[in-house]
Amino acid sequence: MAPSDEPELEHIAVVGTGAMGTGIAQVAAQGGHPVHLVDTMPGAAEAARDRLATTLNRLANKGKITLAEADTTIANLNVADDLASLPPCLLVIEAIREDLGDKCQLFGELADHQPRTTILASNTSSLDITEIASAIPDPERVIGLHFFNPPPLMRLVEIIRGDQHDDEASSAPLRTADALMREWGKTPVHCTSTPGFIVNRVARPFYGEAQRMVANGVADAATIDLALREYAGFRMGPLELTDLIGQDVNLAVGTSVWEQTGRDPRYAPTDFQRELVAEGRLGRKSGRGIFTYDESGRALDASPDAARAQELVGGPVDTDPVARTLAMLVNEAVDLVARGEATADDVDTAMKLGTNYPKGPLEWGREIGYDVVAAQLAELDRVFPGGRYRASAALTEATTA
Ligand SMILES: NC(=O)c1ccc[n+]([C@@H]2O[C@H](COP(=O)([O-])OP(=O)(O)OC[C@H]3O[C@@H](n4cnc5c(N)ncnc54)[C@H](O)[C@@H]3O)[C@@H](O)[C@H]2O)c1
Repeated sequence: MAPSDEPELEHIAVVGTGAMGTGIAQVAAQGGHPVHLVDTMPGAAEAARDRLATTLNRLANKGKITLAEADTTIANLNVADDLASLPPCLLVIEAIREDLGDKCQLFGELADHQPRTTILASNTSSLDITEIASAIPDPERVIGLHFFNPPPLMRLVEIIRGDQHDDEASSAPLRTADALMREWGKTPVHCTSTPGFIVNRVARPFYGEAQRMVANGVADAATIDLALREYAGFRMGPLELTDLIGQDVNLAVGTSVWEQTGRDPRYAPTDFQRELVAEGRLGRKSGRGIFTYDESGRALDASPDAARAQELVGGPVDTDPVARTLAMLVNEAVDLVARGEATADDVDTAMKLGTNYPKGPLEWGREIGYDVVAAQLAELDRVFPGGRYRASAALTEATTA
């Protein structure tokens, strides 16, 4: 990345060596950079380096990487005692716990210890990059680099710009981050610091509509999941997927987006999910969520009614799991693009890579027809008034296509 006469600029630091930091460190080290791991918990950074050495040796034994690659990557992993002992870095990636106060304090310290040219990136899933950046004197160097879990396997990285940035073409930190992510084999997309960024924002109705349909008695959870798998091509249905993610984790993301949008009814969490969480029905990890699981993680009570799914799909939109879900996904994506938060291509790429959707929502919108989607939303708004189903004004504007 850096000119070859400035080798010190190629160092990468990862602060916070939990689930995400460890995976990000692997990606950076495999990208050929000396990586420095820092964690405030005693022994955590050493443990992360040891875990990564085991992982890399296992990959070499399986023939996924060469032994030489494993050795070089392991040699690239260093443990730093604290922020003050880090070398000057090209990029520092923060992956500490999701707390604005902690992150602001950390970025302030990083700004003191690192050269002004060092890019300071946060892997936050939900906090505002503009707010994190306001903690330091040179806010333009602060960006969001939102990796997906697990970072070595997930290609998508959302690069987030805050109010401190011009567009990505003219901001050096954003351009450098884009080039670096491509060098690391990632597919970057760009987004403003809008609540939920692209993926966690656009995906909200995928879960919310399914929960509402089960709660309204349209069909049982397994049948709704089947309809979305069979008739829309989703790899997993929304209900089984939230059991996998964890109902508590999914509810926390949804609640964060809802709160950050001023409790916009479009993102209102459901009582259905709140009750699951209150009852400790968190999903696979607790043995019971929407479905009940055996020791191996197999759902014991997911018995879809295929005839019912077939009957619902193509019927009235308020009871059609596919039309209702897709209309909401398209609306959300169109709105995001129309507000200038991300490009249509980036939204489609993000949803396909970040959530494994078989198509991007804008692709779906073109296929279904934006006028059809607008009419479906108008019907949903008539059946369920209150603002959740209001159509984006941009749905009818050709510019969003
Ligand atoms: N887990 C996910 O699926 C996921 C996905 C994308 C983004 N994220 C985001 O990534 C970040 C980290 O998430 P995680 O799941 O890896 O968390 P985690 O709890 O597994 O790890 C956090 C680590 O940070 C360390 N830490 C805390 N404060 C610190 C400080 N001030 N300095 C140095 N180290 C510190 C902790 O000791 C811990 O090892 C969060 O902002 C989260 O929102 C998580």
